Amino acid sequence: MTAATSAARSGDKAPEISDFPNHVAIIMDGNGRWAKARGFPRAIGHERGVEALRRTVEAAQEIGLKNLTVFSFSTENWRRPVSEVNALFGLLKAYVKRDLNRLAEEGVKIRILGTRDGLPDDILELVDRAEKRTAENDAFNLCIAFNYGGREEMLRAAKAMAEKISAGEVEASEIDETAFARFLDTDGLPDPDILIRTSGEYRLSNFLIWQAAYAELVFLDVLWPDFGKSHLLDAIEMYRARERRFGGLASGAA
Ligand code: IPE
Ligand code: IPE
Ligand code: MG
Repeated sequence: MTAATSAARSGDKAPEISDFPNHVAIIMDGNGRWAKARGFPRAIGHERGVEALRRTVEAAQEIGLKNLTVFSFSTENWRRPVSEVNALFGLLKAYVKRDLNRLAEEGVKIRILGTRDGLPDDILELVDRAEKRTAENDAFNLCIAFNYGGREEMLRAAKAMAEKISAGEVEASEIDETAFARFLDTDGLPDPDILIRTSGEYRLSNFLIWQAAYAELVFLDVLWPDFGKSHLLDAIEMYRARERRFGGLASGAA
């Protein structure tokens, strides 16, 4: 299939989708406001955010979800004070260190999405360990977007693709959406069916901007540290009540 034909054409069927999402992605937002409302430093909000992540991973496993991707540190979060950036790095380390064994035993495959550029050595080492240790697992995919930005990911993919083309390994005319997606960090994962953002903000903040092209967006007022199973179930209920059309017509409209 060529690039030109990778777009939908007359008579094409919309992707097969089921009532239950295959992949849920979450922008875990609102830790700072949660802390501020209680007179705590922001770092406490982030700590509670890790607890919410733990709860959410457990809930996702319980309800039979297969793929969960969470946004934990963006390429733009470097704009925050060094002390906060360090606190967020420390929390990723603490989470992986504390939970890796258990997650590995539960069959969870951990993948870190985003660029490794700029990450300190101890984080790189830990990320590598988590991915290697769980590489053969297939019960549940947990993707942590850390030092992740959708534009950065696409640029990196475009550069990697350009290199293959100049090396003569790939023909430019053969690149279609599927071929391009193979260069993204999410290679092999289904696109998210639901993209949840907590904290009442209505934006994507550079998260999965390629992959979420047809995701159902769910914006919740809850601040991330208060998130739990009931919110995940609410989001899935909202998703089930929606009609996904993928550019086609509503069922029964033709
Ligand atoms: C989400 O909470 C965590 C990260 C972005 C790393 P915030 O820290 O953005 O919390 P708010 O949005 O300031 O409340
Ligand atoms: C998005 O939240 C990034 C993460 C949740 C990791 P931000 O709090 O950084 O987003 P903005 O700045 O409100 O857009
Ligand atoms: Mg925020």
